[in-house]
Amino acid sequence: MKNVLVTGGAGYIGSHTVVSLVEQGFYPVVVDDLRSSSSLILEGLSTLVKDGYTFHREDVCDLDSMTRLFQEYRFDAVIHFAAYKSVGDSCEEPLKYYHNNLLGLINILGLCRDFCIPKFVFSSSCTVYGEPDEKQVYEHTPKRLPESPYGFTKWMGEQIIEDLHRNVVPFQTLCLRYFNPIGAHPSGMIGELPKGIPNNLLPYITQTATGELSSLTIFGDDYPTPDGTCIRDYVHVCDVADAHVQSLFFSDPNPLCFFNIGTGCGSSVLEMVRLFEQVSGKTLPYTIGKRRKGDITEIFANVNASKNLLGWSAKRTVEDAIRDAWNWEQRRNKTHD
Ligand code: UD1
Repeated sequence: MKNVLVTGGAGYIGSHTVVSLVEQGFYPVVVDDLRSSSSLILEGLSTLVKDGYTFHREDVCDLDSMTRLFQEYRFDAVIHFAAYKSVGDSCEEPLKYYHNNLLGLINILGLCRDFCIPKFVFSSSCTVYGEPDEKQVYEHTPKRLPESPYGFTKWMGEQIIEDLHRNVVPFQTLCLRYFNPIGAHPSGMIGELPKGIPNNLLPYITQTATGELSSLTIFGDDYPTPDGTCIRDYVHVCDVADAHVQSLFFSDPNPLCFFNIGTGCGSSVLEMVRLFEQVSGKTLPYTIGKRRKGDITEIFANVNASKNLLGWSAKRTVEDAIRDAWNWEQRRNKTHD
């Protein structure tokens, strides 16, 4: 069985990827210090995959403990998720973001090189496109400077990887540029667990629907889109997880590849609200507020490369994702009662 190191494997996308890996016969070794996750996710993981994985509570910035881990296991691949991800937080505490997201990446890349790991998968983001000229972005669409330190850590993460590949070809690397992952595992055992008030749209919607939050604020309805609200490419987190497993089967003469991980279709904020109301049967209280600084009007993925080269495409619909997110939220609420 192939050992796969999954840093940040107790996080949102990481935990769903652990489940997909086990289902496909891999043995995930999870490293997470739980600073952005909780034991609830580990309990859910254990219910879903039993002892199909192992967990180490460690910090990827601690090079000594990461080195010990690479000595203990022979990893066939490394998937690196461990990073902070809040755009707003990163503006308040840029050093925290640069320290954690870049030092963690540098430590893991160095160990992959030293221990001759054949495959490395990096969690990148569509944030590397900045505000693009075209709404639909290809992998070759020029990168633009991001708006936030968080965005810069992804942008610089890709740059560090490119520089490492410039002279030596240490291992095959895939940078997966996620669009907007939403939803939860259909079992309701794992899902998104934001600490404090959520920044992202879907958890804000579901927590408003349970009454935890009083009302959703839609950040602007005066954008040049059909209904005036921003458009994003929302993709089911289980599909995103599957893209990582597919990356492990991927082989290509090009040692460094970039793939968009989205559906190829955009939905507006108001469309998401309406879809949620249809799926849940609830009326969602919302108001229209001011635009949020740094928001992009419209972006969605071109998915030709991920479909034709990586052999991956999203199988689940946005409705599926909303239904699963709502199921997870209700279950999580009951668990906390
Ligand atoms: C942002 C980042 C993305 C990152 C993701 C994860 C950028 C440009 N995008 O995505 O790279 O991976 O966060 O954290 O840096 N909205 C509301 N009300 C709310 C919350 C959101 O109207 O309370 C709207 C936003 O204005 C936006 C849409 O919903 O139009 C999606 O927002 P969000 O879920 O925060 O994701 P992004 O900002 O697209």
